[in-house]
Amino acid sequence: MTLSRALKLVRVFRRMSLRQPTFVSYNISNVCNEACPMCSVWQRGSVKELSVSDMERIFLDLKRFGFMVAEISGGEPFLRRDLFDAFAMLDRIGFLYTTATNGTLLTPESIKRLSSCQGLLQLAVSIDSLDRVTYQRLRGRDLLPKLLENIDLLAQAGLPMPVKLNLVMNRFNYRETMAILAYAASRKLALSVFPVNLGDGFLHRSNPHEYLPNPVERREMAELFRELARMRRRGESLWEYSGFYEKAADYVEGRPVGPCDAGALYMDLHAGGDISVCVDQPVIADLRGNSIADIWPKLMAQREAVLSCSTTTPCFYTCTYNISITARNEASFFRETASVALRRLVGV
Ligand SMILES: C[S@@+](CC[C@H](N)C(=O)[O-])C[C@H]1O[C@@H](n2cnc3c(N)ncnc32)[C@H](O)[C@@H]1O
Repeated sequence: MTLSRALKLVRVFRRMSLRQPTFVSYNISNVCNEACPMCSVWQRGSVKELSVSDMERIFLDLKRFGFMVAEISGGEPFLRRDLFDAFAMLDRIGFLYTTATNGTLLTPESIKRLSSCQGLLQLAVSIDSLDRVTYQRLRGRDLLPKLLENIDLLAQAGLPMPVKLNLVMNRFNYRETMAILAYAASRKLALSVFPVNLGDGFLHRSNPHEYLPNPVERREMAELFRELARMRRRGESLWEYSGFYEKAADYVEGRPVGPCDAGALYMDLHAGGDISVCVDQPVIADLRGNSIADIWPKLMAQREAVLSCSTTTPCFYTCTYNISITARNEASFFRETASVALRRLVGV
């Protein structure tokens, strides 16, 4: 890691501890080559997407305001032909970024290009099942063989940044969790496990009724999340901090998961340039024609809604809760991360 990257990460954690605006989740496109029934981004339809020069203006403005990390998602980011131009622009202006992909459109060429993305902190690849029929059911397309082929390419590529797999646990795939963890470990990749968002009334996620677990499934999923927390503390190749998995267990059991920092540490930038405090709150303004400094008071006004919605609605978006839980438990996060790293180093 370069000194400049290390110093930026220190600043990121400092801003997190002070709850200062740091992360922007950006759906670079609503368009996707898959059609997951649980996700409503692709169901929104395409909008006029920001050009790379629009992005440059917006991200420079965000950077001046203190934002440091963009979480680039979609839709499917790798459908954007200018994705690497966007990454190069973020590198030029000194923004850090992560990206999430379904992995099916990666090629040996695009994987090679990833190695020169200086600010890319992590590449996350979604894998919701190792069973072809279940994968197609959850992802709307029969693309598991292509995904597995590309995960092997990624695992062999030796990229300079971490590559991890993302599993969204739901009632159709939770029994596969340990098999997917073993699969990830066999490729020397870490795994993140997130609970599917449940409940009605979300703007961002679609919640088909059949995803609602029955009481037995809820209990079994919660037990799995608690086991993942224990495994993470023992040093298994799980990406999230154990506190996140413990909260995920509470979430699937319908218990409150605590305050959310959307609109403080984090905000949401939509494909066309609109912003909101989080995926679940209404759009406040369009960053194409406004500066974040002018809009911030309006965003802050929505914090009240976030504070009350985080105690009354069953939301556990990874974008917000992952950041909130880590920010609120930094000391324990660092202790655990150091102990896990040490265990892996000495092989216990
Ligand atoms: C919306 S996708 C976009 C990026 C990319 N197309 C992908 O598949 O990773 C980003 C992440 O959101 C997850 N996701 C979609 N709908 C969800 C829901 N209802 N609850 C929780 N996670 C969801 C996906 O599984 C994926 O890991």
